Amino acid sequence: MQDCTAGNLEETIKTVSCYPRLVSDAAAYVMGHNDRERRRLILQASVLNPFTQQLFYRAGISSGMNVLDLGCGVGDVSILAARLVGPYGSVTSVDFDNAALETLKARAAAEGIQNIKCVQANVEDWKPAAKVDAVVGRHILIHTKDPLAVLRNCGHMLYPRGLAVFHEYDFSVVHRGWPSTPLRDRVMEVFDRFFAHATRSNIGVPALEPVD
Ligand SMILES: C[S@@+](CC[C@H](N)C(=O)[O-])C[C@H]1O[C@@H](n2cnc3c(N)ncnc32)[C@H](O)[C@@H]1O
Repeated sequence: MQDCTAGNLEETIKTVSCYPRLVSDAAAYVMGHNDRERRRLILQASVLNPFTQQLFYRAGISSGMNVLDLGCGVGDVSILAARLVGPYGSVTSVDFDNAALETLKARAAAEGIQNIKCVQANVEDWKPAAKVDAVVGRHILIHTKDPLAVLRNCGHMLYPRGLAVFHEYDFSVVHRGWPSTPLRDRVMEVFDRFFAHATRSNIGVPALEPVD
């Protein structure tokens, strides 16, 4: 194992290649399966939810739909989707972290939401028993070994004209600061190289072009 604690940016750039790739398996979700990570997800959701809600709304997630939430964590996306589909719709929430699913169940119960079902499974090989109207997810593709395969698999889970809606990072379009400063540019270079090595900086979908 190399020393990954380089003291300056040049050294850090040289040593990013010694980090393991960040894709997860059930035993080693890179962000950890612990209460700290679950609290982080709730804090993160407080910032991201308005954007996710707008994305789902504009994509057409609506009343009465049956929705799958892949990599649901403690359930912020599931709860958001459950509100959009309403009592005549349903959400099936999938994650391999059982403690996160238990937190989701408690949060849903506290809010009187009864249309969320939890499934403990690996999203890379799990298949629903019946087709759904929409598959959604947030920050899950980046954690999978083959994001494109997960996306393709959505096609088998969906009714014709179903929706696959994912809120994900695309580090290949992270913009430089303006005005440019040498320190920020160097930090971004480390960031770019690290993510290109450690995961798929554009969630592994090279065929997609950035949308203006
Ligand atoms: C970054 S969190 C996002 C949680 C949630 N979507 C949100 O936005 O708050 C990723 C979640 O996906 C789960 N996860 C990662 N890889 C998975 C896999 N292959 N199968 C099932 N769950 C997975 C993790 O346990 C974690 O709860």
